[in-house]
Amino acid sequence: MSFQILGTGRYVPEHVVTNDDLAKLVDTSDEWITTRTGIKTRHIATDETASQMAAEAARDALARSGVRAEELDLILCATVSGDYIVPGLACLVQREIGASCPAFDLNAACSAFLFLLETAAAYISTGRYDKVLVIGAEQMSRVVDWTDRSTCILFGDGAGAMVLGKGDNYLGSHLTVRGGDEVLRMDTLPGISPFYTGPKSHPYVQMNGSETYKFATRAVPGEIGALLEQCGVEQSQVDWVICHQANRRIIEAAARRLKGIPSEKFLMNIQEYGNTSAASIPLLVDECCRKGLFHEGDLIVMAAFGGGLSSTACLVRW
Ligand code: ACO
Repeated sequence: MSFQILGTGRYVPEHVVTNDDLAKLVDTSDEWITTRTGIKTRHIATDETASQMAAEAARDALARSGVRAEELDLILCATVSGDYIVPGLACLVQREIGASCPAFDLNAACSAFLFLLETAAAYISTGRYDKVLVIGAEQMSRVVDWTDRSTCILFGDGAGAMVLGKGDNYLGSHLTVRGGDEVLRMDTLPGISPFYTGPKSHPYVQMNGSETYKFATRAVPGEIGALLEQCGVEQSQVDWVICHQANRRIIEAAARRLKGIPSEKFLMNIQEYGNTSAASIPLLVDECCRKGLFHEGDLIVMAAFGGGLSSTACLVRW
């Protein structure tokens, strides 16, 4: 036993920031951003917080799954841009939606939503919990340096959620971590200890773009290949691929390496939302559900990469 997806939900801020808007803040252009990343717009919070977006996505997923908040056994959240370090986002969502179950956060940067699914699958398969709410929610606009043109153009805000219940639709997963902080990191608060003499922190996203790019273009197809081999599934049997939406070129490069999966099966919404980190996979899954793209029995691969460095893939039968 693993799980089935009972319903999905989302929230994105109304305020849309275009590439031309960003060109007024930093030395960039619509042409540069579009050709290097595929991003045209991103939704940016004006008065929403990560916990409010997470709670809205949760309410949406509960309504669409027909599950009441009181029926939930566990709430799991992932974020790198939550309202607080303590309490975690999941605790705030629990209060907001009127649930009373255990709730905790998990940190795995942009791969986190797939780590949430893995954790939920483990709890559900032991019989410990039945209904689990999983949420990826990010207010990335709080944690990017808006003077750094190489990062501020990439990210957006939003939240995606799923309600999971007992079922047999999580067919397998492959998770890899190559521990290190050289390529991608976000420091914690600088601190004001009068005793600390070590290096000062810079609490914003810091990234070696080309190293991240190189890592992702190899790691994503590598994870998917290993996952399919482990599950005994041919590339030609895959109906859809949902990749972490970080850069259109990364997804296209991954698709080129996975020759058995036609490129049109790699779904994308990066042009509208940018990189919403832990929210990107559930947002795209929710969008495809609403469009009626998925049919019962479809084999869907989800794949992500992120700070850690981590790379992950899982296989779900719809
Ligand atoms: N506008 C205009 N020029 C820019 C911008 C910008 N916004 N940003 C950088 N440049 C310049 C650089 O300064 C550099 O100029 P130089 O040649 O004079 O030094 C030039 O453009 C090329 O810079 P590169 O970094 O080599 O550009 P590249 O083609 O690699 O594209 C990008 C940069 C888009 C960041 C790419 O490396 C990328 O997508 N990397 C992966 C990013 C990613 O996936 N991040 C994940 C984030 S966290 C997560 O999701 C896990």
